[in-house]
Amino acid sequence: MNTSQFIAKSVEKSIEKATFTWQTPSNIALVKYWGKSNPQIPKNASISFTLNNCHTITTIEFQKKEKSETVDFDLFFEGQQKEEFKPKIADFFTRIQTYCPYIFEYKMIINSENSFPHSSGIASSASGLSAIARCLMSLESVLNPDLSSEEINKKASFLARLGSGSASRSIEGPLVVWGNHPEIEGSSDLFGVQFPYKVHSVFNNYQDAILLVDKGEKQVSSTVGHNLMHNHPYAENRFKQANENLGKMSSILQNGDLKAFVNLVESEALTLHAMMLTSNPYFILMKPNTLEIINKIWEYREENNSNICFTLDAGANVHVLYPEAEKEAVNYFIENKLAKFCQKNQYICDSVGFGAKKI
Ligand code: DP6
Repeated sequence: MNTSQFIAKSVEKSIEKATFTWQTPSNIALVKYWGKSNPQIPKNASISFTLNNCHTITTIEFQKKEKSETVDFDLFFEGQQKEEFKPKIADFFTRIQTYCPYIFEYKMIINSENSFPHSSGIASSASGLSAIARCLMSLESVLNPDLSSEEINKKASFLARLGSGSASRSIEGPLVVWGNHPEIEGSSDLFGVQFPYKVHSVFNNYQDAILLVDKGEKQVSSTVGHNLMHNHPYAENRFKQANENLGKMSSILQNGDLKAFVNLVESEALTLHAMMLTSNPYFILMKPNTLEIINKIWEYREENNSNICFTLDAGANVHVLYPEAEKEAVNYFIENKLAKFCQKNQYICDSVGFGAKKI
């Protein structure tokens, strides 16, 4: 695979000090990424809605210094120095050093905060790593001013992927595909691309309410989870099915068939959890209230001829997806019938967004 295009050109300009701030969103996969090989290459293609309200804001202050052998950075999360987050970020810098050699020439002071509550069970790696990647690309575009905005976004996604696979889908929006797929023009295992075809208007401003069922620490880290797909008895079929589902999802997004959308999205969520139920070691990440909510959503859909559906990440929280046209009715349903299954009745109303923003 040709990754040489991502190696930064030798620096054209010198800069002593610079500060950049980026807000990058979380995303929710419709067809799931679960299983990867080195270095962060997905076993199947995935697609996600970029979110709007759930985001990370990261500022990096770059101070020029003598070139060193190691990457020098301080990390603050919500104003506090966070030593425990440093190893993941240090690994990220090691993975990207070939592509961003300038990181050895700057001291980096990283300040990050999330719009959603810490340890809410909402994955912050996608928004967190994409924000760092985007700040690095701001520095790189000052050092190499001839980079086009297309090249900047592509490399930001490429770098973000090396930090966390799903982070590659958090640079742009509203729909991003990551992973090489024969029916998606321009798609790649190396970076996310905007879904390249015209999307039906029923998906405009699609809603996602995130029901916080369990705010505890993740029972299975994503790295452990992805590794469970090595030697998994159903792995090969799953990767094949996911790629077929992405082909189907591409048609659905273009023709606006909401019934087919609901069916495919829910099937993907349950299949992801089925992979965890049938791996060894095995996990049940859903909680009793996850199932209560799913059953209530099915009842509501039946009774109201609604297009509401759910999806799940690798955890107990439920993402409730619905068209904007149903917003008022579904929000009422969530507040009155579903909130009680959430920890402290907490849920976050979000909708589809358009990607990273410079602040
Ligand atoms: C279940 O992107 O968190 O959310 O690449 O190891 O950082 P790493 O994994 P990560 O995995 C996300 C898995 C998922 C499905 C998805 O977002 O596609």
